[in-house]
Amino acid sequence: MTKILNVLNTTEERQDINLSDGSSQIIDGSKLVVFPGLIDPHVHFRVPGMEHKEDWITGAKAAFHGGYTTVFDMPNTKPATVTYARLQDKMALIDSQIKQSGLPLNYRLFFGADKNNFQEIAKVKDQIVGIKIFMGASTGDLLMDDEGSMHAVYALAKAFNLTIALHAEDELIIKNNTEKYKNETDFKYHSIIRCPEAAISAVKLVIKLSKIYNVKSYILHLSTKAEIDLIRQAKNDGVPVSAETCPHYLFLDDSMYKKFDGLVKMNPPLRSLAEQEYVWQALNDGTIDTIASDHAPHTLTEKEQPLCKCPSGVPGIETTLPLMLTAYKEGKISLDKLENLLYTNARDLFNLPRSHDLVFANIVDYHPLSHDRLCTKVKWSPFSGMHLTGYPEYIFANNKLFSLKI
Ligand code: DOR
Ligand code: ZN
Repeated sequence: MTKILNVLNTTEERQDINLSDGSSQIIDGSKLVVFPGLIDPHVHFRVPGMEHKEDWITGAKAAFHGGYTTVFDMPNTKPATVTYARLQDKMALIDSQIKQSGLPLNYRLFFGADKNNFQEIAKVKDQIVGIKIFMGASTGDLLMDDEGSMHAVYALAKAFNLTIALHAEDELIIKNNTEKYKNETDFKYHSIIRCPEAAISAVKLVIKLSKIYNVKSYILHLSTKAEIDLIRQAKNDGVPVSAETCPHYLFLDDSMYKKFDGLVKMNPPLRSLAEQEYVWQALNDGTIDTIASDHAPHTLTEKEQPLCKCPSGVPGIETTLPLMLTAYKEGKISLDKLENLLYTNARDLFNLPRSHDLVFANIVDYHPLSHDRLCTKVKWSPFSGMHLTGYPEYIFANNKLFSLKI
């Protein structure tokens, strides 16, 4: 048995923790906080088709180093995960890569909905964590930009009791703005093209459909005050909606293109500091249910291209917990709220079983975030150089203790 002594728990008490891992050692836990093994409900691990950005060997390592023992992966792969056969192929690849990683990472998959695969949903309904809809185009070719198809998917989700996860940005607004600003080269136009109105318009439609069909909608990556207000109201009205945000909307803002150019290009885009402040409030008042990394790795070479070519997305699974624990140390959020945002709410929204995994993170020492501590294949972070605490040191998973010290 391993004993980790004097660990801080999320109710701010100190406790000794016994782990039945078959060994006998005593670890001083006085610098450590313990959480359940975290759930990241939104990652892009790029298998199949974009393995040069990430695969499940590097992805599993990055997940563990970030404190996660469960991830939900998105279907915008190459090809997209939109048929029964492709879902089976993807799971076989993932199982084999996780095995090679030697890390007991749990995963669930979202299944992509497009305008032609409605009949596939019935075949995969018991294998998936939910359906993913891209209402606005992003990385990959998944897109559902018409209300008729949305109705069809909501009707199927109702019949099969499935949750729908939504990338809620209005394609028509984005298209019109793209045309309007097509000659612009400054990255700040990314936030102008994919303006708050695009997100707001899509969120309104999602709430409407969720209400009509009484289907659970999980709205991904909230970034604006108006979306939050709509969701707060919908929740008060009893509409089954829940919502996520991501660390980039909490720690970066649209003034940062000046310094980082395409490195901070993602969809939805960075917003103003005023919007960011509101997202923090919504974390604390419970309107936002989860924090996901939206780990969307692209190589540095890909990200250093001009605005029109630079792909959207940032890696994040290794930085979410340190960022949030650094914010805890600054008094911006409590440990018990973080447990809800990084574990409990995702578990309950998606009906996962209670897990016995634990993560122990050091919340005393600070280290600058450097690229060499990262396990993601792309080896960069938009948060590089930030002085952070809260890096995980141990994970207990599958009755084994993994040391993560760098
Ligand atoms: O920035 C993003 N990157 N947003 C998305 O919707 C997709 C993601 C990716 O897969 O690269
Ligand atoms: Zn995403």
